[in-house]
Amino acid sequence: MESLQTPYRAVVIGATGGLGTAFIHHLEQDPDCGHVIGLHRHSDPPLDLLDEGSIQHAAARLLEQAPEWDLILDATGILTIDGHGPEKRLRELEPEIMAHAFAINAIGPALLFKHLAPLLPRTRKGIFATLSARVGSIADNHLGGWLSYRASKAALNQIVRTTALELRFSHRQAVIVALQPGTCATRLSEPYRKRAPEVLAPETATDALLQVLDGLDASNSGTFFDFEGQRLPF
Ligand SMILES: NC(=O)c1ccc[n+]([C@@H]2O[C@H](COP(=O)([O-])OP(=O)(O)OC[C@H]3O[C@@H](n4cnc5c(N)ncnc54)[C@H](OP(=O)(O)O)[C@@H]3O)[C@@H](O)[C@H]2O)c1
Repeated sequence: MESLQTPYRAVVIGATGGLGTAFIHHLEQDPDCGHVIGLHRHSDPPLDLLDEGSIQHAAARLLEQAPEWDLILDATGILTIDGHGPEKRLRELEPEIMAHAFAINAIGPALLFKHLAPLLPRTRKGIFATLSARVGSIADNHLGGWLSYRASKAALNQIVRTTALELRFSHRQAVIVALQPGTCATRLSEPYRKRAPEVLAPETATDALLQVLDGLDASNSGTFFDFEGQRLPF
């Protein structure tokens, strides 16, 4: 990452996932990255999106290590919930499943912003990016279906926008963005990607996303980009 201070400090949340693992791999290979930490439900410290205390504790542990973190990547998310795949029709909607999708895909990331965004640098570029999904775009929804996943990612997009607006004075060079990684060969997409026109290796998608993030500045904060650097509509 050439646009961050050298050496830069990075943290990846969801470091056990397909995309989280690939992000860590790239950052470990980057000579400009001085330190990268992967957080997940079984890391030290553990971080569970359903437990705000664990997020608060992880943020405190990061602060003990360094006052500022240049790159924060949220690679968490869920699609299949307790064996329930995405709904094809309204009649399949189950409130508990939908609530769980919101808890993991929207409220969890909002809590990450709450506790970790204060760790972003105040006087130089810092990035806090979260993995959303194109299907979370309301403007781009021409197919319907996948109600809980779509709606939870749409909520996430709004959370990104709102966080970026709040931070624009306290962290003037912060880049807070939602990302669409493309359809990638991971556990999450495995049952649903047969008809995808293109399936990316996680290494390819995350390499492309890091390059996109390197090219963004504060004027892009609060927006939504795909792995090819195209801005997507909310
Ligand atoms: N793969 C795709 O094609 C694709 C396309 C568009 C968008 N995305 C988005 O990209 C992100 C990453 O997806 P992926 O494909 O890498 O999926 P994945 O391999 O299933 O990884 C999901 C990650 O989320 C973590 N997670 C789930 N519940 C959690 C909780 N309660 N607390 C903490 N972490 C939790 C998982 O941790 P555990 O290992 O502990 O379960 C795992 O690290 C998701 O937001 C997804 O919506 C993916």
